Amino acid sequence: MDNAFKDQPLKGKVAFIAGASSGINLGIAQHFATNGAKVAIISRSHEKIIAAAETVEGGIGMAADVRDYESVDKALATTVEQFGKVDIVVSGAAGNFVAPALGMSSNGFKTVVDIDLIGTFNVLRASFQYLNRPGASLMSITAPQAHNPSMFQAHVCAAKAGINMLTQCLAMEWGPAGVRVNAISPGPIADTEGMARLAPTPEMEAAVKASVAMRGYGEKRDVADVAMYLATENARYITGTIIDCDGGTKLGNASGDALGEFA
Ligand code: NAP
Ligand code: COA
Repeated sequence: MDNAFKDQPLKGKVAFIAGASSGINLGIAQHFATNGAKVAIISRSHEKIIAAAETVEGGIGMAADVRDYESVDKALATTVEQFGKVDIVVSGAAGNFVAPALGMSSNGFKTVVDIDLIGTFNVLRASFQYLNRPGASLMSITAPQAHNPSMFQAHVCAAKAGINMLTQCLAMEWGPAGVRVNAISPGPIADTEGMARLAPTPEMEAAVKASVAMRGYGEKRDVADVAMYLATENARYITGTIIDCDGGTKLGNASGDALGEFA
């Protein structure tokens, strides 16, 4: 990603990012690496994660399923062997499909909760013993569904709401060890699998864009910039927060025209 900071704010830092073979989390990985961090990324698919790591300056990729605590632990141990103790953790692995509650089996609901919520517990919990403490910064990737009850998203709403609460509980428990735990809640982000699933047609895309206060999709870079802030010393007194990077999505439907003649 372009626009590296001149002073390489993450030089000497080690980052571990879960769910980074594509999309928003890969964007974060690339941005961290461009700004000096040594970056390790994981996802389920060996092929996808190795290919993704080639786009992350100096990065390594490992196959690990966040539902499998041991495989996450092993990837963290390898990261420490290769790069040293971990300063920054991003837990962003997720699964989503659009279905009514009556159209999903118990296993369908569980699958998303397992990847998003249990996966986030596994990543953050396993990372603790590998952290460079005090001073480590952990962040989960949540979503507006955590706040906004949404049709056809019961599994994601439940899982992401759990992530928000988990983030805040861990912030309280780990603050005394000098470990900050925050979350980023992206809104609709362009060129991602998430939006390809949620708004698959041009009409649906246009409707989403028209309903967001900032009128349009965000970019992966928008989320990476927030992650950069949370990763640096600038955010040293910030923990337990959920930062919305969503163009106003959490506020609700903003499709009306309140500016009119006053614009
Ligand atoms: P994406 O490209 O599909 O990213 C999901 C990543 O998770 C992939 O790298 C996937 O790789 C990995 N993954 C899935 N299951 C996994 C598992 N069990 N273990 C390890 N890795 C796993 O989707 P995205 O749209 O960029 O979303 C990234 C994050 O942003 C998610 O947390 C999502 O909820 C959040 N978000 C996205 C949007 C949006 O507009 N796109 C909005 C709000 C929040 P493999 O297939 O190789 O495992
Ligand atoms: N509607 C209803 N149920 C669905 C479904 C859909 N569109 N897609 C999957 N399921 C159900 C399956 O039927 C299965 O339940 P069953 O065993 O009772 O039949 C369950 O979900 C698990 O499916 P499976 O394909 O075995 O899971 P997986 O672990 O291989 O994949 C998913 C996980 C389903 C979340 C898959 O979409 C995925 O890999 N997603 C990652 C990428 C992604 O979602 N990116 C966007 C992030 S916001």
